[in-house]
Amino acid sequence: MNKSIVIYYSWSGNTRFAAETIAKKAGAALFEIKAETPYNSDFNKCCDEAKPECYGKKLRPIMPVSGLDLAKYDVVFVGTPNWWGTMAPPVRTWVTQNKDALKGKTVCLFQTHGGGGMQRVGREFAEIIGDTAKVLPPKAFGGSSIKSSVAALEAFAAERIAGKQ
Ligand SMILES: Cc1cc2nc3c(=O)[nH]c(=O)nc-3n(C[C@H](O)[C@H](O)[C@H](O)COP(=O)(O)O)c2cc1C
Repeated sequence: MNKSIVIYYSWSGNTRFAAETIAKKAGAALFEIKAETPYNSDFNKCCDEAKPECYGKKLRPIMPVSGLDLAKYDVVFVGTPNWWGTMAPPVRTWVTQNKDALKGKTVCLFQTHGGGGMQRVGREFAEIIGDTAKVLPPKAFGGSSIKSSVAALEAFAAERIAGKQ
C-alpha cells in the first residue's frame, strides 16, 4: 500500500496548488505548515519580514501540529516556495523539528519559484536532513505557470512514489 504524505507551506497559493496536485496523484495525505504569526499579506512587507530570516537561516515558529504521525508514512513529500534562494522559514522549522522522525523514509522535496529555479533550496534541505533518510532529487516548478504544470506535477508524483530519481 502507498503510505505517502505531502507537507507544504504556501504564502500565495502556488505551492498549495502543487501540493494538492501531487497529493491527488500520489493518493497521499496532505498537511499544511502554518507560521505561528503569519507573514504580512502585502508582498513588500512580507519580503521585509522574511528576508533577514532567510539570510540568517532563522527558524520561524510554526503552529503546533496535531494529528500528524509521520510513523504512518514511508514517502514524505515536502513543498516550499523559493524565498531568496532558500526554503521559506516555516519549512526550515518543520524540517529541523522533524528530521529525526524522517529517518529511514523516502523524502522528496519540491519547490515553486519566481524564475530563480532550485537555487540553494534542495542543497540546504538535504543538509538539514542528513544521510539517515533517502532524499530523492528535488524538483523546481515555475510558480506563475503552476496551473498549467499539472502533467509535470503528476509525473513527478508518480516517479517519486515509484522510487525513481
Ligand atoms: C518573500 C518572497 C521571496 C521570494 N524570493 C524568491 C527568490 O529568491 N527566487 C525566486 O525564484 N522566487 C522568489 N519568490 C517568488 C516565489 O518563490 C514564487 O512566487 C512561489 O511560487 C510562491 O509560492 P507560494 O504561492 O506557494 O507562496 C519570492 C516570493 C516571496 C513572497
